[in-house]
Amino acid sequence: MIRTKIAGIGMYLPKNVVTNDDLAQVMETSDEWIQERTGIKERRFATRFEDTTTTMGVEAAKIAMQRAGVVANDIDFIVFATLSPDYYFPGCGVLAQRALGMPEIGALDIRDQCSGFIYALSVADQFIKTGMYKNILLIASETHSYGLDFSTRGRNVSVIFGDGAGAVVLQPTTESDRGILSTHLHCDGTEAELLSMVNPGFHAGKFVAEKKPLEPSQPYGGLFITKELLEKDDIYPYMDGPAVFKKAIVKFPEVIMEALTASSYQPSDLNLLIPHQANLRISQMVQQKLKLREDQVFNNIQKYGNTTAASIPIALCEAWENGKVKDNDLVCLAAFGSGFTWASALLRW
Ligand code: ACO
Repeated sequence: MIRTKIAGIGMYLPKNVVTNDDLAQVMETSDEWIQERTGIKERRFATRFEDTTTTMGVEAAKIAMQRAGVVANDIDFIVFATLSPDYYFPGCGVLAQRALGMPEIGALDIRDQCSGFIYALSVADQFIKTGMYKNILLIASETHSYGLDFSTRGRNVSVIFGDGAGAVVLQPTTESDRGILSTHLHCDGTEAELLSMVNPGFHAGKFVAEKKPLEPSQPYGGLFITKELLEKDDIYPYMDGPAVFKKAIVKFPEVIMEALTASSYQPSDLNLLIPHQANLRISQMVQQKLKLREDQVFNNIQKYGNTTAASIPIALCEAWENGKVKDNDLVCLAAFGSGFTWASALLRW
């Protein structure tokens, strides 16, 4: 039976370290508030006019490819997960293909926010298991800092997020009980707007009455980026933090148990859980609920903030580099985020 294995992994964090005290210079917040609520001490911000979601993803990809022992010509498919693409369209997948000088292969962009990496992993897993592709490059990258509201108004969101990228090269393996054992994908769109950035968008105010733009004076167009939108400064992400928290601490344990149960494992069998780095308090609640020991859960949000789709590959890469993921380890990846979407993957490393 063919399974998918991670043949190489890499990460890229931009060099600018932004501390909580740095943020307190531009908005009303404090190191104490941020650490107490989120566990975050600092995050990395992209270098303006230099780093983009694509360029950071490409740097992570180069490391993953080198570790997998493959070159650009070996890759036969790209999957790129992000919610902060360089362009509205085309997606970052084609920009990465161009930057890496790859042949005319396919590139698929995934937009499942915090769950993006696991959704991408699941899609890639199907292509490998069916024998369609032999080397898939999966990149997850985010540049939040270019588009957040760094005034006091946006502080509940902007102190949480950081920039960065992770990448993996996926290959088939015939070793039994190795690689990706299963993936589990879910969503519930009934509360889609509770963690969202709806503008600019093509929604025309269809779903939320307050988001309805004024009637344009022209017969066609005029509903995407309007003057009114810019005047109202309504172009930032929105998050109902308490609602997200409540749902996350239910769905994380649920989807982790789903992955474990699918292979007849218990939480105690896990060598490492790598949760999406949403918020240290969420990770701690999940750990408690599943009765996991401290050494069974990996967190690095303290240093990098929440990097959305990139957080799991960055955490997995750092854990692996630090010797916390070893050969034959049972590793669970789990995510919850905007959509709402949630997902898990169980791997035998
Ligand atoms: N600094 C100082 N004060 C702040 C800040 C800040 N950065 N942000 C909000 N506040 C204030 C608010 O204005 C409010 O003040 P008020 O009581 O005078 O009105 C007070 O703190 C409480 O605001 P809440 O939004 O209710 O804050 P809460 O206690 O819920 O904490 C937080 C906010 C940390 C976001 C919390 O809701 C949470 O952890 N939610 C989970 C969401 C999350 O972690 N999302 C991560 C991204 S999504 C994902 O990856 C799944």
